[in-house]
Amino acid sequence: MIIELSALYRTCFAESPWFEVFGSGEVEEDLLSALQKRDGVIVLAEKDGKIIGASVGYAFIHRTDMSDLIENSDRVYYYAELFVQNQYRGLGVANMLIAEREKVARQRGYLAAMVRTSVVQQIIQDIYSGRGFRVIARQNVMSDKVIDGQAVRVPDERVIMHGAL
Ligand SMILES: CC(C)(COP(=O)(O)OP(=O)(O)OC[C@H]1O[C@@H](n2cnc3c(N)ncnc32)[C@H](O)[C@@H]1OP(=O)(O)O)[C@@H](O)C(=O)NCCC(=O)NCCS
Repeated sequence: MIIELSALYRTCFAESPWFEVFGSGEVEEDLLSALQKRDGVIVLAEKDGKIIGASVGYAFIHRTDMSDLIENSDRVYYYAELFVQNQYRGLGVANMLIAEREKVARQRGYLAAMVRTSVVQQIIQDIYSGRGFRVIARQNVMSDKVIDGQAVRVPDERVIMHGAL
C-alpha cells in the first residue's frame, strides 16, 4: 500500500504549483513515519481497487517547527497531507478525505487543527477558510523544485491556518 500511495503522492506534487522533487525512499519514509506518530492516520480513497487519493494527519505536538504558534497544542491535530489523482478531481474526493480525517481527530479528543500550504495553493486555502480556518502565520522557506526539467531552489511562502474541530 505504501509503495502505491507514494507513487501517487510523487505524481500529485510533481505538478504545478508544487514541482517538487523527492529523494529515493523519502516519501515512503515520511508516510510511514506519519503513521507512527501519536494518532497518526492515513485515510485512503479507492476506486476499482486502486488508490486515488489520501489525507494524512497526526498530533500537532510532533510539529516542533511550528510549536511556538499556539498554546495548549496538546489538543491540536495536524493535517499533514491531502492529494487526489488528477483524473478524479473536482468530484468531492478531497472533501470526503477531509471529513473522514476530521471525524477521527474529533473522536480522539482533538479540539482544533492546523494545516500548512503554499501561498499559491489557493484551492486549499479556500477549502479550509470555508471550514472556518484562518491564517495565523506565514513562513518563508526555500523549496527544491524541478521546473521545465531544471532543478532549482526557489523561495516559497507557506501559509499556516488554524481552525476549531
Ligand atoms: C487540492 C486537491 C486535494 C483537491 O482535491 P479534489 O478532490 O479535486 O477536491 P474536491 O472535489 O473535494 O473539492 C474540494 C473543494 O475545492 C474546490 N475545488 C476543487 N478543485 C478546484 C479548482 N481547480 N479550482 C477551484 N476550486 C476547486 C471545490 O469546489 C470544493 O469546494 P467546496 O468545499 O466549497 O465544495 C487536489 O487538487 C490535489 O490533489 N492537488 C495536488 C496536491 C495538493 O496541492 N495538495 C494540497 C497540499 S497542501
